[in-house]
Amino acid sequence: MKNFINLKDIPVSDLKKILIDAKRRKKLRKKLDNLEVDKGAPLKGKLLIQMFEKSSLRTRLSFYLAIRQLGGSTLTLRPDELHLSKGGESIQDTAKILSNFGNAFMLRTDSDEKLKEFEKYLSIPIINGLSPNSHPTQILSDIFTVEEIKRTSISNLNIAWIGDSNNVLNSLIAASIKFSFKLKIGCPSKYKPNKKTMGYIKSNKNKILITNNSKKAVKGADVIFSDKVISMNDKVNKTKKLNQFKKFKINKKLMSLANKNCIFLHCLPRGKEVEEDVFLSNQSKVWQQALNRVHVQKSILLYCFGKLR
Ligand code: CP
Ligand code: NVA
Repeated sequence: MKNFINLKDIPVSDLKKILIDAKRRKKLRKKLDNLEVDKGAPLKGKLLIQMFEKSSLRTRLSFYLAIRQLGGSTLTLRPDELHLSKGGESIQDTAKILSNFGNAFMLRTDSDEKLKEFEKYLSIPIINGLSPNSHPTQILSDIFTVEEIKRTSISNLNIAWIGDSNNVLNSLIAASIKFSFKLKIGCPSKYKPNKKTMGYIKSNKNKILITNNSKKAVKGADVIFSDKVISMNDKVNKTKKLNQFKKFKINKKLMSLANKNCIFLHCLPRGKEVEEDVFLSNQSKVWQQALNRVHVQKSILLYCFGKLR
């Protein structure tokens, strides 16, 4: 049994195995409908319990399809209906019950500490479906999308991030270290990665360029990533922050400064950080990116269950 909490704690050999399995499985089910089960139904009889403390569309749907396509099923808990969220039950007891009734737990949470607490008391795998500090299933899936479109290892590519230093970027930074790809980050100086993240980058001798010049960040880029300026976890003056990011809006002009076949990726939902004509352009691969979550999460589930070949 394995957990999937943060990319930085998972060996890159395991991450690569997940990507290979996802590629093989995606190819094998080209002609199958969404709810048809993969040959061999490897997770037959297994129950994935999901809980979302914050909103979700894609993660919810993609985990639903992922476990169903592997032959299992899922149940989504509403935190406001549990004793846990009202202080009437401990994480320890909740975890015991989840472990007895279910086979894996996917948690989207407003606290990284909560993930750690659940990890301590669960005897079933736990998957981080987004926390204030990371969004690991998203970024592993995005690597899959990049390699699928570019038909080469991400290690051979230049990646740019234009946007806030948030959970998605933290996972991208971890991926850049694990998969050894070049990463340039364009953001206002005030919003560059925090001390802890900078320390992590340095301790891994990684060279990530961080600049407040978005043109410099996208120069030579094969992929430009972005995300909302205001994340669900953000407790800031929204108008002020959005104003500070005005110069970092992704428009056609900025895209034209990157490499010729540069693609645009965004985990969604989107805000004002990208112009409509970029978001809906041929360079934008956001819908393919969203759908790939199903394929990669299937292989993440198999990894957690120790069933990855
Ligand atoms: N990208 C992503 O995680 O989307 P949701 O918040 O809709 O799950
Ligand atoms: N950074 C965003 C990602 C949403 C999928 C957030 O945390 O709100």
